[in-house]
Amino acid sequence: MHPAIPAEKQEHPMRCPVCGAEATAARCGGCNRPLLPPLQDGPALRLEDIEHTYGTGAAAVHALRGTSFAAARGEITVISGPSGGGKSTALLTMGLLLRPTSGTVSVAGEPLHEASEKRRARVRLLRMGFVFQQFNLLAALTAEENVLVPLRYAGVAAEAARDRARDLLRRLGLERRAVHRPADLSGGEKQRVAVARALALGPDIVLADEPTANLDSRAGRQVTEQLAELARAQRSAVVVVTHDTRLAPLADRVLHLEDGRLNPAPAGREEDR
Ligand SMILES: Nc1ncnc2c1ncn2[C@@H]1O[C@H](COP(=O)(O)OP(=O)(O)OP(=O)(O)O)[C@@H](O)[C@H]1O
Ligand SMILES: [Mg+2]
Repeated sequence: MHPAIPAEKQEHPMRCPVCGAEATAARCGGCNRPLLPPLQDGPALRLEDIEHTYGTGAAAVHALRGTSFAAARGEITVISGPSGGGKSTALLTMGLLLRPTSGTVSVAGEPLHEASEKRRARVRLLRMGFVFQQFNLLAALTAEENVLVPLRYAGVAAEAARDRARDLLRRLGLERRAVHRPADLSGGEKQRVAVARALALGPDIVLADEPTANLDSRAGRQVTEQLAELARAQRSAVVVVTHDTRLAPLADRVLHLEDGRLNPAPAGREEDR
């Protein structure tokens, strides 16, 4: 790397995660996806000594108390723990949706806890995908149009965006549901559309908060298996926060978050896997 030129302006050979074209510039020449420099060595995501306090004085809640965490590309982490333990707070902090009270958050080596909202939003768009408990699909749009939202928002060319959305829906077994609106889909189908949307731009990091909480166990397992398989194939770092202990076997590691402290899952729980 040339030290005098900002990393984003330098040429980094990479493969566009949307259309697969060889790319070196700030935008893919094939589909126009904006590109941030590819990950070098080191974790995709790193949290160090994160404290998060909601409220002040007598009403203060210490949701995170010195949490450190790192996730590598291609690695699937499940974080479980009791209600109120700080899981959603940790995931929001990882997703640059919440600024920590103290501590550092870096994505692909770039410190972002004090970065501008504009920069945090750009990294979020181009490096991260989210899956939520409530699906959060747009009711007026079809399944395919929901998957197109991030692609078009990022400026991906219409045809390449449509190809990408259709390919993901096909891989998730939803090709025959592409023209249906969320109201006409089952819970499991809705969450698979949400997975396709989260993976649309080929994120380095996928964050999921209780993705199976509104699904029966079969649909929950299926959607999580598909998320894990597709994310591994594109080498995303995946963090799934869940009460659902049945998801543990899909993970490369299981962590336990309780009272704002993150630790490896107790050995007894590991044996359950
Ligand atoms: N916006 C907020 N304002 C004040 N306190 C909050 C806020 N959000 C969360 N908390 C508190 O912070 C603590 C951690 O909450 P968090 O939502 O991170 O837990 P969780 O592990 O995700 O719980 P659950 O499993 O129920 O989703 C809880 O005591 C919660 O009441
Ligand atoms: Mg939560």
